[in-house]
Amino acid sequence: MDRIAITGGAPLKGTIPIYGAKNSALKLQAAVLLSSEPLVLENMPDLADTRFMAQLLASLGVEVAWIKEARTLRLHAGDISSTIAPYDQVRKMRASFNVLGPLLARAGHATVSLPGGCAIGARPVDLHLKAFEAMGADIHIEQGYVKAAALRGLKGAEIEFPFVSVGATEHAMLAAVLAQGDTVLKNVAREPEIIDLAECLNAMGARIEGAGTGEIRIRGVTSLKGVKHRVVADRIEAGTYAMAAAAATGDVLLEGARAEHLGALIEVLRNAGVEVMSEANGLRVKRANGRLAPVDFGTEPFPGFPTDLQAQTMALLCLADGQSRIRETIFENRFMHAPELARLGAQIAVQGNEAVVTGVERLIGAPVMATDLRASVSLVIAGLAAEGETIVNRVYHLDRGFEGLEAKLAGCGARIERQRGD
Ligand code: UD1
Repeated sequence: MDRIAITGGAPLKGTIPIYGAKNSALKLQAAVLLSSEPLVLENMPDLADTRFMAQLLASLGVEVAWIKEARTLRLHAGDISSTIAPYDQVRKMRASFNVLGPLLARAGHATVSLPGGCAIGARPVDLHLKAFEAMGADIHIEQGYVKAAALRGLKGAEIEFPFVSVGATEHAMLAAVLAQGDTVLKNVAREPEIIDLAECLNAMGARIEGAGTGEIRIRGVTSLKGVKHRVVADRIEAGTYAMAAAAATGDVLLEGARAEHLGALIEVLRNAGVEVMSEANGLRVKRANGRLAPVDFGTEPFPGFPTDLQAQTMALLCLADGQSRIRETIFENRFMHAPELARLGAQIAVQGNEAVVTGVERLIGAPVMATDLRASVSLVIAGLAAEGETIVNRVYHLDRGFEGLEAKLAGCGARIERQRGD
């Protein structure tokens, strides 16, 4: 298995290009199933997760062409040859569950395995299924599979989610665009990825209003056409490199990053004593030597602090001068990076959904183990700031979500390399 070796202490200086958002790309890929015309996605990240999704789509009859130099994925679902998403495909990545809604909307039925994904808590899909039921689908769970049917088509419905879910909001949108009549989705997620999906679907001919607010209204249409769409910049990738620059010290331009998508993170960084400046082509993050200030924050749905940046921020605050409190309100069990950070000398006490990080003057490199996607990269960030060598094992988690991580960091002066395993 591959591992990443980092010798800490080198400041980061340079420019890091931010690619399209994984979490947006995956739902945009699923949207191809809604139309018999081609969907061309530009600014695509090239990741294990987006490749899994392309493989799954291919197994459903979608023609897939990846034009690497142009970072463009061309998808064409002229005919759907299968409406079954098997366990082996879906267990590898939770977002592949998102083919259920589009298959149901276009073909009238689908059989999709219940998902697996990151080991960060229970992560059920009950809200997704309730939304489809409200739209008139028959849903049964048999032997780990969701069997869904709406043979006379889905019907528009008013659905109020009991709490905010990114996945359920997107999935309901993907199904409702081809439903008969109007759908109103209440208490929905407002993440930039939701707006990106709505913009793509509207360009395809859908009639979605309100994306980015707490209520989305959709007027169903009978068919959608093909379009070319540029995937929104990955705010989690941008935030991760912001944290790397802050931890290692230095001056880095995150090319393509958008301040309006990172408000909560920028506030935490500034409170810690890191300079963040919006520039014409991205965000600049600067940190000189000297201790950071501790910061308290809690994860929230957008526009709050993203749970997907919690681990990276914890890594940074391990070196603050004082005590920081971090509350994780989105996922249970999302502090698995804490004991690994402790291997580098961090002082973190976890109790329930709160972690108290008592800053230390220095971290010292050690072998550590990646446990999930965002936790893995928090170990890289800590390694960049630690003295000596840190080896991050099980990096296949990283490859799910960060394209060219070592090259991007090494390009700014980090001493980091991938050691190929068997
Ligand atoms: C998406 C992101 C993930 C991010 C998360 C929150 C993708 C591929 N993944 O995940 O990186 O961390 O948003 O920003 O876009 N829940 C239920 N029932 C449901 C659905 C969700 O109980 O049917 C719960 C979850 O367990 C969790 C909370 O709702 O506690 C929020 O999850 P959700 O917003 O749905 O996250 P995902 O869409 O899975």
